[in-house]
Order: sequence, then C-alpha cells, then structure tokens
Amino acid sequence: MSDKTQYDLYLDHIEAFLDEKCFHYESEPQTELFSAMRYSLLAGGKRLRPVFVFDFCRMCGGDWKKAVHFAAAVEMIHTYSLIHDDLPCMDNDDFRRGKPTNHKVYGEAIAVLAGDALLTAAFSCIASAPYDAQTRIRAVEILSNCAGEIGMVGGQVLDIQSESRRCTANEVIDIQSRKTGALFRAACMLGVLAGSGDAQQLAAAGDFASNFGLAFQIRDDILDVIGDANVLGKSVGTDANKNTFVQLYGIEKCNALVQEHTEKAVAALECFCDHIFMEQLVCKLIERTV
Ligand code: IPE
Ligand code: IPE
Ligand code: MG
Ligand code: MG
Ligand code: MG
Repeated sequence: MSDKTQYDLYLDHIEAFLDEKCFHYESEPQTELFSAMRYSLLAGGKRLRPVFVFDFCRMCGGDWKKAVHFAAAVEMIHTYSLIHDDLPCMDNDDFRRGKPTNHKVYGEAIAVLAGDALLTAAFSCIASAPYDAQTRIRAVEILSNCAGEIGMVGGQVLDIQSESRRCTANEVIDIQSRKTGALFRAACMLGVLAGSGDAQQLAAAGDFASNFGLAFQIRDDILDVIGDANVLGKSVGTDANKNTFVQLYGIEKCNALVQEHTEKAVAALECFCDHIFMEQLVCKLIERTV
C-alpha cells in the first residue's frame, strides 16, 4: 500500500500537469515569457486551491483526477495575482515561494506580461477541460466572476486604496473576502461543478470558502507579523501600513477569529458525506507557519 497521503496524491497530480503540459512551445520566439511564467508557476506553493478543486469534486462523488484543468486554471490565476501583488507599484516584495520575485529576475515589464499571460491561459485551460460545453461555460462564469473586478482584482484595488486611511471592521472583511476569499470560492465551486454536485452543495462550497478564506487571510496577516520569512518563503512585515486584521484586532483576538471562522467552514461541510480530509486539512491550517 502506498504511504502517500491524500494531499500528496493531489499535489503530485497538479504538479505533473503544470510541469508537463504548460507553456512548452517548440517554435515560438518569446521564450523569456514562457520562462517567466514557469518560474513562478512551478515555484511550489501549497497548492491549496487545486487541492480544494480536487477534494470538492471527490466529495461530490466525481472523478477528481479529471478536474485537473479546473485546478490548474485556478492556480494560474492565483500565481498571476502573486506576481502582480509583489510588483513595486503594489506590495513591492523581493521574495516569493522561497525565491526572488518574478520582477526581480525578469524585470517589471516581463513580470506584468507573465501575469497577463497566466490569466489568459487559465481560460484556455478551462476551454480544453474534459467536460461538456455547458459545464465549461459555467466554469468560465464562476472563475471570471471570482477573479475579476467584483472579486479578487476588486479586492486588490480596495486593499491598495485603503492604505492611506483607517478602515472599519466590515470594510476589512469585505476587502479580504474579495482579495483572498473569492479565489477560494472559485476553487471550491469548480470542484462541485466538476463532481456534478447539486445546488445545495454548490451553496455550501461557497459558504465554506468564504469562512475558510477569512480564516486563511487572518492567519496570513498574523504571519506577516510573527512569521519567519525563511519558513514562509516570502517577506514579512510588508503589510504594516495596510488595514490588516492584526492592525484592527491585535494578535490574540485574531487567533480567536481564525478558530471561529474555521469552525464555521467545517460546519458548512456537513452536506458532504465524506468530508474528513477537508475538515482535518483546514483545522491543521489554523496554526500554519507556511
Ligand atoms: C498567498 O497565498 C496570498 C494570499 C492570498 C494570502 P498562499 O499562502 O496560498 O500562497 P502559496 O500558493 O502557498 O504560495
Ligand atoms: C494578496 O494578499 C492577495 C492576492 C495576491 C490576491 P497579500 O498581499 O497579503 O499576500 P502576500 O502576503 O503578499 O502573500
Ligand atoms: Mg497585497
Ligand atoms: Mg503581498
Ligand atoms: Mg499577506
């Protein structure tokens, strides 16, 4: 019997797809662009969003391996968001996924364009997924809504614009649930879609992801203060001038909020019969250091 965990199986599947299938062109001259795209996409990371796509598909009784195009699409958008988030005009970070940031290696212009190309490639990846046309169109709709101006990009704009003023608690929740929660919502809902889940499961996946997304971003804000850059693989202390949960509540209350939102996320898993893997995963993430 294999001693690989379910997480390892998911990880192996997404890593193999990204490495083997993405951006190998024999006769295109823009090799530096492909290299920049692969540099960030294959730099590791926890791959939580692909894991969520796979496991929500499995929990709905679907063939999770078949959902790899959806998983890869979310990871491409997540990676592009990190490349752009690190640019000097945004968070100005030098270190990501244990390596120098994309613009430090390739320069700002190529980093912007590598992000653009990853975003575009995500939708091409969905177009080639092994599902019927209606399912693929629904996937495009979910992912574009979550990633775009109402979702992640909208959240990043509000995050940047709020730097110069103090936000209310509700404003911070709104910003974080867009900039971080929205892509988790896309991942979980795409998993349900791939697994042919019903409307109740789709709504539960959204509810789970909203709560998990908040817990995850609050922990991210805590780690920006108490984390170790070498363990995290990214710079710390760079969000000190932002409206983070830590700024708002302090570390102790933030720890309690991570716990509270994780419990709400777990409660939303009730309508999935075999949810023990997901429950254990999100509970472990409460105290993550990476
Ligand atoms: C970092 O996301 C950005 C946030 C949304 C807080 P992750 O912590 O999932 O980053 P990787 O994918 O593991 O590098
Ligand atoms: C980034 O939030 C969220 C997105 C990239 C959309 P942060 O700016 O807090 O993420 P890190 O801490 O740089 O990973
Ligand atoms: Mg940021
Ligand atoms: Mg950042
Ligand atoms: Mg952060």
